[in-house]
Amino acid sequence: MLRSAFVLFALVALCIVWSMDHLHSSLYIHLPLKPRKTSADRICEHGYPAESHYITTSDGYILNIFRIPYSPRLSNRYISKPVVFIQHGLMASSDGFLLNGPDNALAYNFADAGFDVWLGNARGNIYSRNHSTIWIKHPKFWKFSWHEIGTIDIPETIDYVLHRTGEKAIHYVGHSQGSTAYFVMLSIRPEYNAKIKTGHALAPAVFMGNATQDIIVNLVPLLGNPDGVGTKLLCDQQFTPYNSYICRILDTACGSPTKYPKYCRILYLLWSGGAQGNVNSTLLPQVAETHPAGISTNQAIHFIQSKVSNMFRQYDFGTKKNQKLYNQTEPPAYPLEKVTANTYLYYGLNDGAANASDVKRLAHNLPNLRLLHEVPISTWSHIDFVLAWQVKQEINDPVIQYCKDYEVAN
Ligand SMILES: *[C@@H]1O[C@H](CO)[C@@H](O)[C@H](O)[C@H]1NC(C)=O
Ligand SMILES: *[C@@H]1O[C@H](CO)[C@@H](O)[C@H](O)[C@H]1NC(C)=O
Ligand SMILES: *[C@@H]1O[C@H](CO)[C@@H](O)[C@H](O)[C@H]1NC(C)=O
Ligand SMILES: *[C@@H]1O[C@H](CO)[C@@H](O)[C@H](O)[C@H]1NC(C)=O
Ligand SMILES: *[C@@H]1O[C@H](CO)[C@@H](O)[C@H](O)[C@H]1NC(C)=O
Repeated sequence: MLRSAFVLFALVALCIVWSMDHLHSSLYIHLPLKPRKTSADRICEHGYPAESHYITTSDGYILNIFRIPYSPRLSNRYISKPVVFIQHGLMASSDGFLLNGPDNALAYNFADAGFDVWLGNARGNIYSRNHSTIWIKHPKFWKFSWHEIGTIDIPETIDYVLHRTGEKAIHYVGHSQGSTAYFVMLSIRPEYNAKIKTGHALAPAVFMGNATQDIIVNLVPLLGNPDGVGTKLLCDQQFTPYNSYICRILDTACGSPTKYPKYCRILYLLWSGGAQGNVNSTLLPQVAETHPAGISTNQAIHFIQSKVSNMFRQYDFGTKKNQKLYNQTEPPAYPLEKVTANTYLYYGLNDGAANASDVKRLAHNLPNLRLLHEVPISTWSHIDFVLAWQVKQEINDPVIQYCKDYEVAN
């Protein structure tokens, strides 16, 4: 009952959002909405230097990534620094690693530890919605899942960062889909293992058989079968909770904690699958302001397929197209034995997307596992890895320490 109500609500919300977008563009309604704050704006607000970079991928997507090149708290502007590259999760963006502010957010903590910090943005999110030849409203633009993020966006972003910094390798931190893409990259393009000094997978969504999050479980009947009507109807499009108009309304409504806190909290809970975990309530307006940051429906479908198959494998296009594309009826599994970089796994006991037993199964499949860490707080949820009030002590500090240890030893 609750589940069908949830699905119904989600569908109605999608329709409203969709029609508002069209109404807006056809009627030129103008509301006094705030301009959007970018990651660079947020970084500068706190007195840190910010750079914005554009990368055009080999298949034409234009990605906007951000950099904190040095820390104003250290006098390290002109000395060479190790590079860390941080990649966001599903429905998120580079903003997430900044929201907790200079004392607690991962990006600032890394900068203050003497790292050159780069924040990625995957194709299709709010920062990476442009293409050199395809119009973003065309279904062709949205024909990608995290397979393409892992095989194209991330490796090409890493090459760009290495080229700009003159470094030979980076430290990698990925949350959720950001770690999924790490394993896709290193298994399909194993030559990238040499460009990773250490790789930190926070709540890696790789094996998903034990995922319990409502939004995942509820979408299985709709999207779990590649030949099903739901999949056919919904694939290859932008997942609509994000569109430019709605986001401006969220910004405006949720931009200050005092205005509509209740409304923002509900939105936030919908986005996060209903678990507030250990996220500080004062952050919720900012979270609602920046999430969901936009994805292709195929990314969600690919995760649902991981849940149904209980395997980590390429996108399932259905028997016929699989045969044509992969020369077999089922999609091939990602060869995790090729992930030879130093890899560190972190999981939480209240994570409905990256379940402890699924992460342990991943650990067993990695040839060079350096750490399998259980966060010692029983309520630790999927988004706590980025937004919990204790995130500095539980996640950021240990991750940074492992990176520093590597630098000292090498
Ligand atoms: C999108 O990319 C094209 C091609 O590089 C560029 O001309 C255009 O200004 C970009 N549009 C936006 C909104 O950034
Ligand atoms: C849950 O995880 C266990 C341990 O990794 C795995 O063997 C099992 O297949 C998973 N369960 C489901 C329902 O996928
Ligand atoms: C396709 O698979 C068959 C059977 O596994 C194999 O004999 C054949 O060489 C494969 N073809 C290609 C083009 O890989
Ligand atoms: C993780 O998986 C186990 C086994 O399927 C299940 O009992 C448990 O509730 C799951 N944990 C979460 C937080 O979803
Ligand atoms: C929550 O955030 C507010 C404002 O940033 C801060 O004053 C408060 O100490 C935080 N609470 C916890 C438990 O960290």
